[in-house]
Amino acid sequence: MDIEALDVEKEIGKVGEVLCEHDKKKGILITTLHRIQEDYGYLPGEVLQRLSKKLELPLAEIYSVASFYHQFHFTPRGRKIVRVCMGTACHVRGAPKVLEKIQKHFDIEVGETTEDLAMTLETVGCVGCCGLAPVVTVNEEVVGELTPKKVDELIKTIESEE
Ligand code: FES
Repeated sequence: MDIEALDVEKEIGKVGEVLCEHDKKKGILITTLHRIQEDYGYLPGEVLQRLSKKLELPLAEIYSVASFYHQFHFTPRGRKIVRVCMGTACHVRGAPKVLEKIQKHFDIEVGETTEDLAMTLETVGCVGCCGLAPVVTVNEEVVGELTPKKVDELIKTIESEE
């Protein structure tokens, strides 16, 4: 998004008539952060600095707001977001082994992204497909009934696809 072209009055609309300047700027902050993340995949520091200048809001305040919400990220994310379900059903059906295999193969910890940005690895609570446990989601896709062989196939898919 074009930070310099950001128009606070236009973005805030009619409700702005009853808000002070500071609240108007805070009012568009989260929407703007979402747009930045859509464009970059995360919130780059230099873009947040430009936003801070543009909105005349302290950078610390912008970071404070952004870090409150888990959906914002401050480092680049992988093209594939792989989430290993660690809910009870998946846990008892081998999720820790699935996680360990993926971690070892890519040499990353939970919350980290591979250097080539192919994948970010996360864990998640129950994703609502317990009948398919153990389950992994890859972006929006659910991959269930993971056997060691299926995990190998999943790893190959992650490595091969752009
Ligand atoms: S516990 Fe994994 S889908 Fe429910």
